[in-house]
Amino acid sequence: MTVLTIERLTVRFGGLTALDDVSFTVEPGTVHALIGPNGAGKSTCFNVISGVYRASSGRVLLGDADITGTPAHKLAGMGLGRSFQSATLSPGSSVLDNVMLGRHARTRGGFWAGGLRLPWTVREQRRHAARAAEICAFLGIDHLLHRPASTLPYGDAKRVDIARALATEPTVLLLDEPAAGLNAAETAGMGQAIRDVREELDIAVLLVEHDMGLVMGIADQVTVLDFGELVAHGPPEQVQSDPDVIRAYLGSASDLEETGPHGLGSYATRAETADARGSGEADGVAADTDNGVTR
Ligand SMILES: Nc1ncnc2c1ncn2[C@@H]1O[C@H](COP(=O)(O)OP(=O)(O)OP(=O)(O)O)[C@@H](O)[C@H]1O
Ligand SMILES: [Mg+2]
Repeated sequence: MTVLTIERLTVRFGGLTALDDVSFTVEPGTVHALIGPNGAGKSTCFNVISGVYRASSGRVLLGDADITGTPAHKLAGMGLGRSFQSATLSPGSSVLDNVMLGRHARTRGGFWAGGLRLPWTVREQRRHAARAAEICAFLGIDHLLHRPASTLPYGDAKRVDIARALATEPTVLLLDEPAAGLNAAETAGMGQAIRDVREELDIAVLLVEHDMGLVMGIADQVTVLDFGELVAHGPPEQVQSDPDVIRAYLGSASDLEETGPHGLGSYATRAETADARGSGEADGVAADTDNGVTR
């Protein structure tokens, strides 16, 4: 069964249409990339799926459950895990405690029972800690379990953020620019980790990412947005030679003629340039909203 269905999603901010009647599906056991130039609507799409923004119209289905408008804190317990564009770890807490936050959606006892240390809540906590440690081992960060999150290098912090999302035992994992700010070796490691999530944990991944090398190397399906509209959809090799996609990245047909023979290489460069410019206004808005909801 399809794990995630985006059905005719439209999002308007005042006079601006950030997403315009966009539909696509994420199939089980696949990495599905959502790409497009700056301001295309990728983060908006993520934020609607994960209950941060409200759609003007359209629906989101998780499996066959309609989750349109479901608040973010409820979605974690329903099988939707997400990482954040800027890792939002609790800096004073250990890696293990940060990952344990992801287990809360799965905890029966709740805060008060946990505080009373009833025997069954102690057992439950132990079980959750063991699972959290197992997930950290899967992502190669188990040697960091007791390190305060504030002391972690950026690449490890990103893995902890993903471990926390995996700790909710999702059926689909939303990753927002997992390679942003990583060097080449860390990016390759992140690519392998995402493959492992798909292959060993059998979790579908919806990935927003500007690094075209990473996207084309690991994605099974690619959906391309431009100015809120879906301009192409298909396997990477098909999408990367699609004239509409190259035009979206290059901005004009004359650019396309000049750089056309280089295909992916030319628009990867363009995307990387956009990425190097750093987070634009839209990212700032989305990231702030993320923080507001999760904290
Ligand atoms: N909360 C908001 N209020 C008003 N406009 C918004 C809001 N969030 C996003 N937008 C606008 O919607 C459009 C799509 O933005 P979005 O953040 O989804 O793009 P993106 O594809 O994620 O871009 P980037 O690659 O730069 O992160 C942009 O024009 C942006 O300015
Ligand atoms: Mg964005």
